[in-house]
Amino acid sequence: MERIDSVEMTRKTVASWRAEGHLVGFVPTMGAFHEGHVSLMRRAVAECSKVVVSVFVNPLQFGPNEDYASYPRQLETDAQVASEAGIDLLFAPSVEEMYSGPGQTKVVVDGPARGLCGDFRPGHFTGVATVVAKLFNIVQPHKAYFGQKDAQQLAVIETMVADLDFPVEIVRCPTVREPDGLAMSSRNKYLDEEARVAALSLYRGLEQAASRALAGERRAATLEAAVAETVRAEPRARLEYAELRDARTIEKLDRLEPQRECLLAVAARISTSGGGHARLIDNFIFRLKNGRVEVDRGVFADKNSTQSSQ
Ligand code: PAF
Repeated sequence: MERIDSVEMTRKTVASWRAEGHLVGFVPTMGAFHEGHVSLMRRAVAECSKVVVSVFVNPLQFGPNEDYASYPRQLETDAQVASEAGIDLLFAPSVEEMYSGPGQTKVVVDGPARGLCGDFRPGHFTGVATVVAKLFNIVQPHKAYFGQKDAQQLAVIETMVADLDFPVEIVRCPTVREPDGLAMSSRNKYLDEEARVAALSLYRGLEQAASRALAGERRAATLEAAVAETVRAEPRARLEYAELRDARTIEKLDRLEPQRECLLAVAARISTSGGGHARLIDNFIFRLKNGRVEVDRGVFADKNSTQSSQ
């Protein structure tokens, strides 16, 4: 695996691969790899002849009171994981390398960036869309791989790609869960033992809603309440939202609807013993087919293959 921190060298390397006829896959990340990242890399390696992974903790997508400074950084371990996953190029630029220009241009996506995390993290999706647009222009991949756990981010990026005619295919990949259901996230590293238990309330809430949907409930308010009540019952959790939305457009839904992917999304802050917190998100997708509900929870990691998120 090559390791490159320069924009120019990355461009040159990918340009030579493309000239040789390779299909180039790309997995953009902020590092601190877990099984979810590895599943994106494996899928990209299976589908493409060359794969680039980027590791860049993007300051533009963090608010002033968020965890940019403390976000986990472990480049050497990440490089080892990427190399073992069969990645060809690890692009790990510095902030100065990525934001060397005057920085007066931002990519603002409207519709799907509204509501949910868009309300609680002002400017976040502009930061995400701007850096992903830059990364696409630098790496110029044929296909780019994103996890369903960040459902609103996925909708924002798909909208940006469609609106601005980026010549890249966005591949949606399932959320990867710990064997007990906790969605894998780099921010799980913040959780101590008790916070780890509290964090599971997001998944348990979604399971409560899924049980109701499978028993015939279709109303958004009831499904949202099932999630909200479960999270609110957990003293260390502070619910931000539990909402039913269209997974592609992030429009609000009043009920589960056929012909739509219905996203039940939740976000909460989990207090940790040291006085800090971890802001976690999770979601299930519901599909109504022939009057029956299918629940898409993503995939569960094998007990033996997963590293602890502690
Ligand atoms: O999902 C992430 O890790 C980040 O938001 C992304 C897409 C790499 C942009 O910084």
